[in-house]
Amino acid sequence: MRVLLVCVAVALLSCPAELQRRRRTVAEAFNDFQICRDLNISAPETMLEVYYGNEEIKTGEEIYADITVEFPEVGFAVEPGCYYTFIIVDPDSPSAYDPFWRSYLMALYVNIGSSPSSLGGLDLHTGFEVATHIPTSPIPGTGIHRYVLLLFKQPYGISTIDENLLCFQQFRLNFRVDEFMCYYNLTGPVAGNFYLSQFPERT
Ligand SMILES: *[C@@H]1O[C@H](CO)[C@@H](O)[C@H](O)[C@H]1NC(C)=O
Ligand SMILES: *[C@@H]1O[C@H](CO)[C@@H](O)[C@H](O)[C@H]1NC(C)=O
Repeated sequence: MRVLLVCVAVALLSCPAELQRRRRTVAEAFNDFQICRDLNISAPETMLEVYYGNEEIKTGEEIYADITVEFPEVGFAVEPGCYYTFIIVDPDSPSAYDPFWRSYLMALYVNIGSSPSSLGGLDLHTGFEVATHIPTSPIPGTGIHRYVLLLFKQPYGISTIDENLLCFQQFRLNFRVDEFMCYYNLTGPVAGNFYLSQFPERT
């Protein structure tokens, strides 16, 4: 027993980066960055795989905004027959110091289903586009922003002729994730991820 423990300890000590990577779950990262508090949501149960082109988003890492011009590809192991809602928000709008537009809605898709060829089955292209995806565009001089990607499970298909839904095609400021979730009886977030970005400062 003691020999086994020593072996495990040595194995762990020899790769601290690996240890840290495994210990930091997506839920811990959401709490560390106070996203749950600021959005009034619970922590996602699993990590949403997010790719912009070939770049995989690593939870909480800072990226250059220009990689997010393309629509992201996301991966999640769906439950067959379920519909999902996908949301991207910037809670630090216009800045983290004074976020009076919290949150800025950067993408909203509902009624997302699955297709066998996509990552984990989730296929964003099957969804109904409410608010078109806007690339990351932090305002110069407003510092670091958190960009949060969330996936919710719907209890049923959402009516796509409802004014309360279609208004988000235009009104993107002060979007309340918690109120949207409550109104549409969504479960989750079942998966999430986030990255940081800022307008590149000239040197
Ligand atoms: C947070 O969300 C809950 C519903 O999940 C709601 O009852 C509560 O009023 C919200 N809190 C704030 C501060 O808006
Ligand atoms: C959410 O659930 C409540 C209670 O079952 C229901 O009255 C309401 O219509 C549902 N909301 C939507 C948008 O379907």
